[in-house]
Parts: sequence; structure tokens; C-alpha cells
Amino acid sequence: MFSPNLLQQLQNIFICAFLGSYLLLGCNQPAKQNTQIKKDYIRAIPGENDTIPVAVAEKGEVLIAYSDCYTCHKEDKKSIGPAFKDIAKRYPVQTPYLDMLAQKIISGGSGSWGRAVMSPHPKVPLTDAKIMASYILSLKENK
Ligand code: HEC
Repeated sequence: MFSPNLLQQLQNIFICAFLGSYLLLGCNQPAKQNTQIKKDYIRAIPGENDTIPVAVAEKGEVLIAYSDCYTCHKEDKKSIGPAFKDIAKRYPVQTPYLDMLAQKIISGGSGSWGRAVMSPHPKVPLTDAKIMASYILSLKENK
């Protein structure tokens, strides 16, 4: 009933199915790497969070709205610059990080989030820059 030819064909089908699933599993690999890249983009720094007074965060939001920040930043989504919420995910609310971010707002630069360059803001006073940084980190979820 089974000709050797048919057996040969069945064998081929099994080999193809085996190779097919092997290739499919292989295709899953890059997807895993993608989530890895996303995680590395945030690079969350562990640490305790100080509280940011609501009045300070509100003032920072106003200062940012009156500056040019929103031409490159969005609250939720990556634009030319990182999303403010992504910045909040990376840095703990602590004075050294607020100081560092305030300096970066004034001096600009690149390399922390990729190759895009942030323009410098030499006219922003250091105290204002710290208040802006406080607003950005106040967007941290599940504090
Ligand atoms: C010309 C576009 C541009 C403008 C305008 C801009 N930014 Fe940025 N910003 C960027 C880019 C690009 C980065 C990422 C820099 C890097 O990778 O180091 C960035 C990064 C940041 C960071 C994170 C810095 C770090 O090292 O993690 C903060 C905080 C920030 N911006 C705040 C501001 C504030 C506040 C303003 C307005 C005063 C502003 N930005 C205006 C493009 C911009």
C-alpha cells in the first residue's frame, strides 16, 4: 500500500516541519533582544526617592512650558530628546541627581540617551534648572 515514494515524501514533510519550527524559534530570538534594548535605554539607577514639594513641581512645569523644552521633549513619548517620564524612571529623586540634571539642562550635550544632542541653556539660572529637574523627576510613577 505504502510505496517507497510515499514514505520518502512523508519523511520530507517531517524534516520540513522540524526545520520550520527550528527556524521559527530562531526568529523569536531578535524579539527578545529588542526588549533587552528597551530596558537598557532606561538604565534605571536604584535608590531611595526624596519627596518633591508639589509647589516646586508646579513651578518647574511652568518654567518648562515657558522655555523651549517641549520642542524636543514630550512627557510620555520619546521625541528628539527622551520622554520626561523615561528620565524620571532612570534617576532616583536625590540632590546629586537633581544637581547633575540641572547642570545638563544648562550645558546641554549628548551620550546619556543616544546620539541626539541637547542644546545648551546658558540663560537658565541654576536654581530654575534645579526646579525644572524636580518637575521632571516628579513624573516618576509608583514612588
Ligand atoms: C534641541 C532639542 C532639545 C531641547 C530644546 C531641550 N532638550 Fe533636553 N534633551 C535633548 C536630548 C537630545 C537629550 C538627550 C541627551 C543625552 O543623550 O545625553 C536631552 C536630555 C535631557 C535631560 C536628561 C539628561 C540626562 O543626562 O539624563 C533632561 C533633564 C532634559 N533634557 C531637560 C530639558 C529641559 C528642562 C529643557 C528646556 C529648558 C530641554 N531639555 C530642552 C534635547 C533637547
